Amino acid sequence: MKMSTKAYNDQKPGTSGLRKKISVFKQKNYLENYIQSIFDCLNNKQGKTLIIGGDGRYFNEKAIQIAIKMAAANGFGKVIIGQNGLLSTPAASHLIRHNKAFGGIILSASHNPGGENGDFGIKYNISNGGPAPQKLTDAIYKRTQIIEEYFIDEFKFIDLSNIGSTKINNLEIEIINPVTDYAFLMEELFDFEAIKAMFQGGFEMRFDAMHAVNGPYAEQIFCDMLGASKETLLNCTPSTNFGGFHPDPNLVHAKELYELMMSKNAPDFGAATDGDGDRNLIIGRGIFITPSDSLAILAANLHLIKGYKNGISGIARSMPTSMAADRVADALGVPIYETPTGWKFFGNLLDDGRITICGEESAGTGSNHVREKDGIWAVLAWLNILAVKKQSAKQVANEHWAKFGRNYYTRFDYEEIELDKANKLMKRLNEKLDSLVGNEEEGIKISTADSFSYHDPVDGSLSENQGLRILFENGSRIIFRMSGTGTIGATIRIYIERFEPADGEINLDTQVALKQLIDIAKSISDIEELTGRDKPSVIT
Ligand code: G1P
Ligand code: ZN
Repeated sequence: MKMSTKAYNDQKPGTSGLRKKISVFKQKNYLENYIQSIFDCLNNKQGKTLIIGGDGRYFNEKAIQIAIKMAAANGFGKVIIGQNGLLSTPAASHLIRHNKAFGGIILSASHNPGGENGDFGIKYNISNGGPAPQKLTDAIYKRTQIIEEYFIDEFKFIDLSNIGSTKINNLEIEIINPVTDYAFLMEELFDFEAIKAMFQGGFEMRFDAMHAVNGPYAEQIFCDMLGASKETLLNCTPSTNFGGFHPDPNLVHAKELYELMMSKNAPDFGAATDGDGDRNLIIGRGIFITPSDSLAILAANLHLIKGYKNGISGIARSMPTSMAADRVADALGVPIYETPTGWKFFGNLLDDGRITICGEESAGTGSNHVREKDGIWAVLAWLNILAVKKQSAKQVANEHWAKFGRNYYTRFDYEEIELDKANKLMKRLNEKLDSLVGNEEEGIKISTADSFSYHDPVDGSLSENQGLRILFENGSRIIFRMSGTGTIGATIRIYIERFEPADGEINLDTQVALKQLIDIAKSISDIEELTGRDKPSVIT
């Protein structure tokens, strides 16, 4: 059936697909407009397979029903859907690869709040399992602005709770257990026997799924397969509003877990993942591991894990991620790539075999096993390393710093700033960059200041305006960037980093260690005067 739709000017995908308030998604034909725009930009999809799933938030099932009918009307041959519409983002990525599917539709607003007044999101992943590259998202956006009609079949509501296959019109609809194939992949990569023995030996973990999609994955993998006790599982029943919480695994929203891990009664290891299961938080007893350090530590130890025993070919990190991984790459003699923020930039490097592991400061870590960041993977990688090294997370981190030195790192987020104020700040700073080079700020000299652009070494594409960088002679960095995932106003992020060599003071409090650079960042940007904020909304 052909339906008319209107063009929308506000369907510009951000860092990670199209993300908006539920109220925006509920507008008549809004979702249909976007899905048809995706389909219109895909050639040769006739008869092919599409993976569909989401993080279970409010509107997930409704959106999936629409996506199925539109897939039918647009000529797909088969859809594979997670039971009850659930698929973690990394599991969806794996299913696309595993089934050699044409692509996948992932319904999620990641770590943003859910529920009736929360956020919703949709993104398209290509046949390598990864997020659509910039070229495709640009084309989709263009299409959303001129599209006039969409195609949808009329058929009954599909019961997503029934595992099995049916055929309606020319579309085969297969509902699968969302965990099975993913769990099998994890078992292939990690030494489950060693981890199991560690749990049997009394090792205790708390895993917080934040009422989101990873609950069932955690239960099957950690408890059923690895023998962890049921006490391990916190908030492991997915809910449409994430229990009324914000499913963002950081020290603010996973505060309870953090406090437990810092207390006298702390178990050995704590971890959490976000709404769609791709982000991770790692906390050892008495120590929070920053995502940047986690990437570096995993890269340095990955060869201890079964699936990576031949070592790694290279490492990639997003530009604002700390340079801790660079030191590991140097030591291993493998290349390090610095990409713009967003997982889509890792895809080409992984496909081309240039890197094995990659990560972002925003709690994203992953490897060449899928083309998304992967929360459960990161937790298993840590568990596997702890099991092999027979050390605590704190010992592993301390040993790492004692060998490579430590990159103190923090991120300040100024959220929900009025758009024009944020734009003005970034524009002003950008114009000022050239004049900063050579200046001394509090005794440290600025060596470079620029707007980051990335030349993809695989396909040659250029991505510009990916953040403003101020680099100091002593290796410190201050980076300013506008978020591409917020749904209200603008968010400005400031990333601050300082390197302390192995024989220096590697056990300082982070905010103390970075105090001088924080002051410089504020005064260079005039952020407080220009935004009227006297402090960031979130410090991580
Ligand atoms: C944020 C993170 C980025 C991540 C993205 C999607 O994007 O900073 O690293 O890839 O979420 O999870 P931002 O809001 O900064 O554009
Ligand atoms: Zn996420």
